Amino acid sequence: MQIVSDVTLKSLALLNFKNWEELHLSFSPVVNCFIGPNGVGKTNILDSIHFLCTTKSFLSTTDIQCIRFGADYFFIKGEFDRIGNLEVIQVSLKKSEKKVLKRNDSNYQRLSEHIGLLPVIVISPQDTNLIYEGSDERRKTLDLALSLSDGLYLHNLQRYNRLLQQRNAYLKEADTSGRVQHDILTLYDEQMDPFASYIYNARNSFLAAADQYLSRFYYTISSAREHCSIRYQSDLADNNLAALLAQSRQKDRELLYTTRGVHKDDLEMYINGQPLKKFGSQGQQKSFLIALKLAIYAVIKEQTGLSPILLFDDIFDKLDQKRASQVIRLVQEMKFGQIFLSDTHPERVKMLTQQTGSHSKFFMLDEHQKITHHEA
Ligand SMILES: Nc1ncnc2c1ncn2[C@@H]1O[C@H](COP(=O)(O)OP(=O)(O)O)[C@@H](O)[C@H]1O
Ligand SMILES: [Mg+2]
Repeated sequence: MQIVSDVTLKSLALLNFKNWEELHLSFSPVVNCFIGPNGVGKTNILDSIHFLCTTKSFLSTTDIQCIRFGADYFFIKGEFDRIGNLEVIQVSLKKSEKKVLKRNDSNYQRLSEHIGLLPVIVISPQDTNLIYEGSDERRKTLDLALSLSDGLYLHNLQRYNRLLQQRNAYLKEADTSGRVQHDILTLYDEQMDPFASYIYNARNSFLAAADQYLSRFYYTISSAREHCSIRYQSDLADNNLAALLAQSRQKDRELLYTTRGVHKDDLEMYINGQPLKKFGSQGQQKSFLIALKLAIYAVIKEQTGLSPILLFDDIFDKLDQKRASQVIRLVQEMKFGQIFLSDTHPERVKMLTQQTGSHSKFFMLDEHQKITHHEA
């Protein structure tokens, strides 16, 4: 069965992006597989696609670190099909200059305007950070998902964050000078309040929708009927921000930062009612994270009507053959979109695509970064 999705990447060109001096590839609208030994640049190719869609790397690499060692710029160009329209996206960065992003030859004034045009979801070994790192990792994932699904979200988040920084700066300034003007703090509290409400409501309804998909996807991947759930944790659940900040003003003045608000939100993950981090086995955690990412995918699709591009890095790091084919099958049954995946072993990838009967393009990478490709 051929599925042509709403957003597909047709071709990609890289210059000096990480280990790739020059690369030109064209893709299948269905499944694309990058196969080769460790360290040849498979993840970097997926990352360049993520860059085109979100203006950022999905690894914790800074923009400058994406420039190939010894070069002084990088350039990425992708030709996308978006609901039948050609979208040519180019990102470039020269050392000591600002990143430039173009859509069909026009520069964006603000990079954030681009986010949401081309939805993308990445599943990678890094996802375990969602379990083991602090709440900012979880908020980052949530914020990207919401930015891709809700055109107003990022704007509201940026406004909130700017006011938060100013409020924190004022708390320090007032401490240094030994004088606080309560009117100024009240003004900040009132200005931040509507942005916080927007963010809270958006996160709350997004996560409620994702929670609906989670157990079902978990079951498809692992055939285990464990009950998985996510719970949104926010100060705003009890009260509006202005009231919360009024209550915690004394504490904020002592600690010199804003102690409550949506910048403290978290996402809790449970399996059979127990925290995933403490009680989930490795296998359960892996399946949970994939189910969670696919649930986020499903909500973005539901809310935008667009199938995101799915980047699945090191697919067999997370899954055995049976589970991997369940995932691909799930993705196809749900009429999800174009998939890019990477792995080190050609045989198991071929078996996977044969099992799922998907039209696939294979890119075989060798140690010298030579690429051969064929379709099946
Ligand atoms: N800025 C850069 N310039 C040159 N090489 C880089 C840069 N950033 C990362 N690399 C190289 O890319 C390689 C890793 O590529 P990666 O895509 O992670 O490989 P794979 O996923 O195939 O295992 C490493 O050898 C690393 O040194
Ligand atoms: Mg890799």
